Amino acid sequence: MERLYQLFEAVGYVHPIHPPITHLPVGLVIGAFLLGLISLLFHHQMAGRAARYCMIIAFLSIFPTVLLGYMDWQHYFAGGWLSPIKIKLVLAAVLLILAIISLVVGRGDERTSPGVAGIYALSLFTVLGLGFFGGQLVYSGKVPAGPAEFRTGEKLFRANCSSCHPYGGNIIDPKAELRGSDELKDLQTFIRWIRDPRLDNGAKGPMPPFLPARVSDAQAKELLGYIVKVMGPAKPAPECDVTIPAIVKRTEPASVAKGKQLFEANCMGCHTVFGTEGLVGPGLKGILKRKTLPFGDWPATPENIFKQLRCPYKDMPSFREKLTDEQVFDLIAFLNTQ
Ligand code: HEC
Ligand code: HEC
Repeated sequence: MERLYQLFEAVGYVHPIHPPITHLPVGLVIGAFLLGLISLLFHHQMAGRAARYCMIIAFLSIFPTVLLGYMDWQHYFAGGWLSPIKIKLVLAAVLLILAIISLVVGRGDERTSPGVAGIYALSLFTVLGLGFFGGQLVYSGKVPAGPAEFRTGEKLFRANCSSCHPYGGNIIDPKAELRGSDELKDLQTFIRWIRDPRLDNGAKGPMPPFLPARVSDAQAKELLGYIVKVMGPAKPAPECDVTIPAIVKRTEPASVAKGKQLFEANCMGCHTVFGTEGLVGPGLKGILKRKTLPFGDWPATPENIFKQLRCPYKDMPSFREKLTDEQVFDLIAFLNTQ
C-alpha cells in the first residue's frame, strides 16, 4: 500500500486520495434525492427511475470510497482512532444500510414513494455529515492563530500537524507534546525530525514522515517559526547538576561479572545487549564502540554513559539513588565487553 503512495508522490500527487472519489457517492445521493423529489411531487416516472439508478451507482461507489478512505487513514493518521474517524465509519455504515433499504423498499416502483424519498433525504444528511467530519479531520484541528507574518506556517500546521497535535499537544501520545519539544531547538533538528520521526527506542512510531514533496525545507522553516511563536520554543534541557567523576577503567572478570548482574537487575527490562534494536530504550550492543550515543548524539564515552545514568537524556529513569559510582564503573566494565 505504501508503494502506491510513493508512486503518487513520484508523479507529484501528494494529497490524500480519498477526497476526490467522495464526490461520486455524494453527487449521486444528491441526484437521487432531487430526482426522487421531482418524481414524488410531479408523479414523474422517469425521474423516479433515474433516482433509483443514481442510488444503485451510489451504493456501488461506497465500496471504493471506503477502501481509499481506509488507506488514507492508515497512511496519514497511522490508523489512529480519532473521533471524526469513528463518526465517519458509523456514518458510512448508516449510508450503506440506507442505500440497501431504499433499493429493497423501492423495487418495482416506477415512481418514488414518500417512504423512499424520506430515505433519500436521510442519505443526503448522512453524506453531508460524512463531508463535514472529513473536513473536520483535515482542517479543523485546534490551530491557534498567529500574527499575520506566520500565516503560511499556520496553514501548514493546519494541513499537516493539527489533527494529531491540537494546540501543540499530542492526542496519540500525550507525553510526547509538540509544545516545548527538544526537536524544536533549531531548524536542522526540526527538519531531521519531521523527515524521520522516531520513538524513544529508535523504532518508527505513529507519526508519519513528512518528505520534501509534502513539506519542503523552506516550508519547514515557516512551520517552525509559527510553532515556536505560538506554542513556545524548545524547553532547554536541564543542566546536569552531578559532577561526573574520572571513570575508573575496569577489565577484571570479577568487575565484569558484577556489572552483568547489575545490568540484569536494573537495565534488562528496557535494553538488550544482544543487538541494537530497541525495546523501551535503544539496544546497547557495542555501545562503547560506537561514535555517538543513539539519543544524546554526544560521543559514546564512559563519561557520557555515566551521565546518562545520573541525568538521563529524556524518558529513562535516573539511577542517581539506585547505583553508586562504584557500581556504575562495574556496569561500564560489562558494557565494554558487549
Ligand atoms: C498521525 C498523527 C501525527 C501527525 C499528523 C503529526 N504528528 Fe508529530 N507526533 C505524533 C506522535 C504519535 C508523536 C510521538 C512520537 C512518535 O510516535 O513518533 C509525535 C511527536 C512529535 C514531535 C516530538 C515531540 C517530543 O516528544 O519531543 C514533534 C516535534 C512533532 N511530532 C511535530 C510534528 C509536526 C511539525 C507535524 C506536522 C508537520 C506533525 N508532528 C504531525 C503524531 C503525529
Ligand atoms: C524504564 C526503562 C529504562 C531502564 C530501566 C533503563 N533505560 Fe536506558 N534508556 C531508556 C530510554 C527510553 C532511553 C532513550 C533516551 C532517554 O529517553 O533518556 C535510554 C537510553 C540509554 C542509553 C543511551 C543514551 C543516549 O544518549 O543515547 C544508555 C547508554 C542507557 N540507556 C543505559 C542504561 C543502563 C546502563 C541502564 C541500567 C542501569 C538503563 N539504561 C536502564 C530506558 C531505560
